[in-house]
Amino acid sequence: MIPVITLDGPGGSGKGTVSRIVAQRLGWHWLDSGALYRLVALAAGRHGVALDDEAGLAALAAHLDVQFGSAPDDTATDRILLEGEEVGQALRAEACANAASRLAALPAVRAALLERQHAFRQSPGLVADGRDMGSVVFPDALLKIFLTASPECRAERRYKQLIEKGLIEKQRGDTMSGLVAEIAERDARDTGRSVSPLKAASDAVLLDTSALTIEDVVQRVLSLLQGRLKSSITQS
Ligand code: DC
Repeated sequence: MIPVITLDGPGGSGKGTVSRIVAQRLGWHWLDSGALYRLVALAAGRHGVALDDEAGLAALAAHLDVQFGSAPDDTATDRILLEGEEVGQALRAEACANAASRLAALPAVRAALLERQHAFRQSPGLVADGRDMGSVVFPDALLKIFLTASPECRAERRYKQLIEKGLIEKQRGDTMSGLVAEIAERDARDTGRSVSPLKAASDAVLLDTSALTIEDVVQRVLSLLQGRLKSSITQS
């Protein structure tokens, strides 16, 4: 059985950065499942499919023509091709995240992406990040982590990320409060939806990252993995 580590949590909890580094250190594959929902949102905009057209969006999701960069390095999110065109930067925009959060509430869209996500489970292992990786997509994962952080902390991280990527300009007075409101709105939608809501699997380890560095969290995940691997060897 190919081992899987799942990292779920709200936006800005650190799961994207942490999961990518953990995958790198282990030499395992990496699944950024949020990117799939963002890709459907982008494709919908390009093909004129409305965000409430569930059947149309599910068809788009099932037939997404997408290629990911091969290794999880620092530029991996910038090497995503949609229909042959580089879309890494466009995917990170807040408008795309908001559209993704809306269509992610539609059961047919989630079902259409399930098989595509399972296909990432390849030897020697997979680190998967998202909202429902441990609860729905990989319920048999070897290690499930649920990351949280205070809303202020998450908004600040997202703000820094957007500035670094050149997606918003520094010192625009209202940007930070706008971001806090947008994040709160997305959280409410992701947590409140009836299918695969954002929630920790019952067997997940909860980790509040507000006061931790990225390296702290990476080390914690790796040491939890060591423990799981040891006990799975002892049991077999
Ligand atoms: O992690 P992210 O910000 O890239 O995700 C974008 C949106 O996609 C998020 O608001 C909710 C949705 N999503 C989801 O519903 N399930 C996942 N496994 C990953 C993301």
